[in-house]
Amino acid sequence: MILTPLSRTALLAFAAAAGMALSAPAAAEPDADAAKLLFKQNECGKCHNPEKTKKGPSLKKTAKEYKGKPDAVKKIIEHMTAGKKVKLEDGTEEEHKIIETKDQKALQNLAEWILSH
Ligand code: HEC
Repeated sequence: MILTPLSRTALLAFAAAAGMALSAPAAAEPDADAAKLLFKQNECGKCHNPEKTKKGPSLKKTAKEYKGKPDAVKKIIEHMTAGKKVKLEDGTEEEHKIIETKDQKALQNLAEWILSH
């Protein structure tokens, strides 16, 4: 087969696309680095630790609570954006921190990361 310049370009483009598809991370995996950064910037770590219960529940505990619930991501996003009154481990009450972003993608990613614990 003689490759015309056009079909060669098409082949190369196809090869590049196939290669990218192979190296791209699975769509379901949250971007942990972005999530951790947002978590840190908002000082969520003051009250939440991946493993240990601090003033608030550990991320493991939250993930366990929501495991298998279809609306988990929605509920977590709601929690992070609504400023509901919560009870801290020491028994005092305050309004939960409202996360400083309205970027739905970033919120969803953070929620998925929390649920991945
Ligand atoms: C001053 C302490 C404090 C800070 C700061 C804080 N939280 Fe919380 N958070 C809590 C407490 C306490 C609870 C438990 C609420 C309850 O069970 O009623 C909680 C619960 C949660 C839950 C579980 C909600 C549920 O429905 O079970 C998530 C998710 C969460 N926080 C995420 C965050 C994120 C994200 C940030 C940063 C933007 C953050 N928290 C900052 C204290 C805090």
